[in-house]
Amino acid sequence: MKAVVLVGGQGSRLRPITYDVPKAMVPLRNEPFINYMVNFLRAGGLEGVVLSMGYLPDPIQDYFERWDMGGFSIDYAVEDHALGTAGGIKNTEAYLDGGPIVVVNGDVLSGLKLGDVIAKHRESDALATITLTSVEDPTAYGLVEVDHDMLVHRFLEKPAADEVTTNLVNAGIYVLEPEVLAMIPAGREVSIEREVFPYLQAEGRLRAYVSSSYWKDIGTPRSYLAASHDVLSGVVGTREDFDYLQVDQSVTPSKGVKLLPPVSVAEGCILKGGATIGGRSALGRGCVIGERALVEGSILLDEVEVEPGAVVRGSIIGPGARVGQDAIVRGLSVLGAGCIIGEGNVLDQGVRINPGVVLPPRSMNF
Ligand code: GDD
Ligand code: MG
Repeated sequence: MKAVVLVGGQGSRLRPITYDVPKAMVPLRNEPFINYMVNFLRAGGLEGVVLSMGYLPDPIQDYFERWDMGGFSIDYAVEDHALGTAGGIKNTEAYLDGGPIVVVNGDVLSGLKLGDVIAKHRESDALATITLTSVEDPTAYGLVEVDHDMLVHRFLEKPAADEVTTNLVNAGIYVLEPEVLAMIPAGREVSIEREVFPYLQAEGRLRAYVSSSYWKDIGTPRSYLAASHDVLSGVVGTREDFDYLQVDQSVTPSKGVKLLPPVSVAEGCILKGGATIGGRSALGRGCVIGERALVEGSILLDEVEVEPGAVVRGSIIGPGARVGQDAIVRGLSVLGAGCIIGEGNVLDQGVRINPGVVLPPRSMNF
């Protein structure tokens, strides 16, 4: 059985990071997210994947060209205009074999046992089985009401607060029969959540599988950072050689550098005297952390520079960005690629700085 993974969305909630890096390629513990997805599918016994792409397909394709997937096939279906979640699945049809498929939203990190869902689906007469997970606030998801028999009674995408009747939501992991693909019109935008699932529900052919496994949609700064903390802490996605202190051998910290696990420091990073890399941080390749600077609970993509005395806490810093001397970036702030935060600025409360922006010294203070 093959999987289709939807990776064609713009990742708008994760901007400005996703202006340059597609959501599927954002790093978790210095591995692109899509790697966790491939491991998840392989662990579920699938033979291959078709990536349904649209926005920024090249970085994803370039990444896989470097790897030998050892018998696991990867195909690419690239749409030239957004086809939506069902249209994106339809667009992969040429790479499928006409049997049932697994479909996964390309931004969910899950510890689910896919094989169990497939087995449950096969026992039933459903045209589609969707996995459900329990969340605090269903309004950002697809709300799903089920009966005692796991037959879906209602599918409501992005419910308003007063429409919330359950905490169970669509986890974005499905098994679909070929009949479902056949009912999706080709070449136009179709939503599986707003069109296909409500139809299947009305026909009584939509079933659910409730999972209590780890699950997170990494599509917002808050959830992406939380997922990063979880992967660094070994909660999900780990393999046998897991190490809480993952420091590339090319990195030799200067005197007085404090490295507090769990951390991940990639190739070529330079950690200068008295710098502190606090717990649950991940530093991408070639980052430079200046004297007495502090990085804590944050994700730094490649080649970020944190100048002497600066503080980065609970934030996401895009590739090549620079945090100036004694500046403070905290509170879920997100910096775009190549921006420069001048000396002494204070960024807080989820502020987002677009790629390439240059903030003059001491011009922002939350
Ligand atoms: N190929 C393609 N084409 N892929 C797309 C398109 C498109 O036009 N639009 C979105 N995608 C991909 C995104 O890249 C993402 O991986 C996935 O489809 C889901 O899109 P999101 O934009 O992340 O949706 P969401 O998080 O608001 O909601 C979806 O996921 C929730 C679970 O995380 C829905 O399926 C909800 O029902 C669900 O609860
Ligand atoms: Mg999402």
